[in-house]
Amino acid sequence: MRASHVKQKRILLIISGGIAAYKCLDLIRRMREAGASVRAVMTKAATEFITPLSVGALTSERVFTSLFDLNDEQEIGHIRLSREADLLIVAPATADLIAKMASGHADDLASTVLLATDKPVLVAPAMNPRMWMHPATQRNVAQLRADGLHFVGPNTGEMAERDEAGPGRLAEVPEIIAAATSILAERARGAIAHLHARPLQGRHVLVTSGPTHEPIDPVRYIANRSSGKQGHAIARAAVALGARVTLVSGPVSITDPPGVDVVRVETAKEMLAAVEKNLPADIAIFAAAVADWRSASAAQQKLKKSGDKPSLDLIENPDILATVGKLRTGRPRLVIGFAAETSSVASEAARKLKSKGADWIVANDVSPDRGVFGGDGNTVHLVTAQGTEDWPTLSKDEVARRLLQRAAEHLSSGAAAAE
Ligand code: C5P
Repeated sequence: MRASHVKQKRILLIISGGIAAYKCLDLIRRMREAGASVRAVMTKAATEFITPLSVGALTSERVFTSLFDLNDEQEIGHIRLSREADLLIVAPATADLIAKMASGHADDLASTVLLATDKPVLVAPAMNPRMWMHPATQRNVAQLRADGLHFVGPNTGEMAERDEAGPGRLAEVPEIIAAATSILAERARGAIAHLHARPLQGRHVLVTSGPTHEPIDPVRYIANRSSGKQGHAIARAAVALGARVTLVSGPVSITDPPGVDVVRVETAKEMLAAVEKNLPADIAIFAAAVADWRSASAAQQKLKKSGDKPSLDLIENPDILATVGKLRTGRPRLVIGFAAETSSVASEAARKLKSKGADWIVANDVSPDRGVFGGDGNTVHLVTAQGTEDWPTLSKDEVARRLLQRAAEHLSSGAAAAE
C-alpha cells in the first residue's frame, strides 16, 4: 500500500475510554506524518485517560467531546464531523462503545457521529480478554461486520492488568495505519462501497462453506480441514451488500452469520442436493472444502477392531462446483470457486477454472506454515479468464468483502449482461 492513499485524507478519530487511549497520541502523530489531517472526538470516559489538550496539540484542531459543545455549528455539528471525513477510525473501541454502535444508540457525540455516518469506519477494539470473548461482544462485533464496518485487531498478548493475557490488546499503530491505508486505497479505486450501499439488493447469493463429513461407520468419518471462517465471512459480506443469502454449510463450530438462510448438511451428496434445491442464484460461491471421496458402503454398525487390516473402499463424490459451473440452464451468472493448493497455486487454479466451468477461482496457498486453516488471515490470488491478480494478505472478512464488491461490480457491468 502506498502512503499516498493517506495523504491529504481527512481522518475522524473517535477515542473511547480505555487504558490504550494513550496509544492514540502516537497514532495521530504517525497519521499526520503520513500527510493525513486528523480531527478527534473523545468520549467522556476517554478524557479520564488522556486530556483533550494533548489530543488537540497533536491534531492542531479543536477536539470534540460533547454533543452540546458545538456552539458555532449548532445541532448539525455531528453531521458535519462525519461529512467532512474520508474515514472514521474508532481507537480504542471499548466493549461499551461497540455495544452502542451495534444497537444504534446515539446518546453522546461519539455514538451519534457513528450512527450518522455513511463513511467507511475502521474499528480497533481494546478491552479485557474476557470482555472481548464474551458472547455479547462477539455478537455485537459480528453485527457490525455484517453492517459493513472494518476491524483491525485486537491482538493477543499481555494486558495492562497483570496476570491477564489473551485477545484484547489494541492493534499496533502501524497495523491500524496499514488497515486505514488499505481501506482508503480500495475506496479510491471504488472497490469499497459506501457504508450503506446495497449493490446486491434483489440478488440471491448462494455460498457453500465448511467441510463435509463422509461416514465410514456411525462414529467415524472422512473430512477435510476447514473451519468455515472464509465461507461464513463471504455470506456475511453478501448480506452487508444487500443480497438475499443462502449458506449451505457442512459441520462447523462457528456461529451462523446474522440475516442468512443457513442450510446445514453433513455429506457432499447432501450439499449438492441443498445447492440444487436453492438455485436459482445470481452468484454462487463454493468455499466449502468438500471431501473428494466417500466410503463406498458406510457401515451401519461401528466397525470393530480385529486382527485383520481394515480396508476402505472409496468412491468419488460429486463435484458441486463443476456441476453448477457446467449447468446449461439455470447457471448462476457468476460462479466462483476456491482452490486451496500447497504448490503451483496460480497454475493449478487456472486449470480448475477451465475444468470446473468456473468464472473466477480464488486461489490460496494453504501450506501449513501459512496458518490459513482455522486462522483469520488469508493471502489469495483472483484467477479469471483475464489473468491472475495477487491480493495482499487480508483478514478473511476483508477477502470476502472485496470479493463480493467485485462480484457486484461484475454483475452490474456489461460483461455479465453480455454473457
Ligand atoms: O478440486 P478442488 O477440491 O481443489 O476444488 C476446489 C473447489 O471446488 C472449491 O471451490 C470447492 O468448494 C469445490 N468443490 C466442490 N465439490 C467437490 C470438490 C470441490 O464444490 N466435490
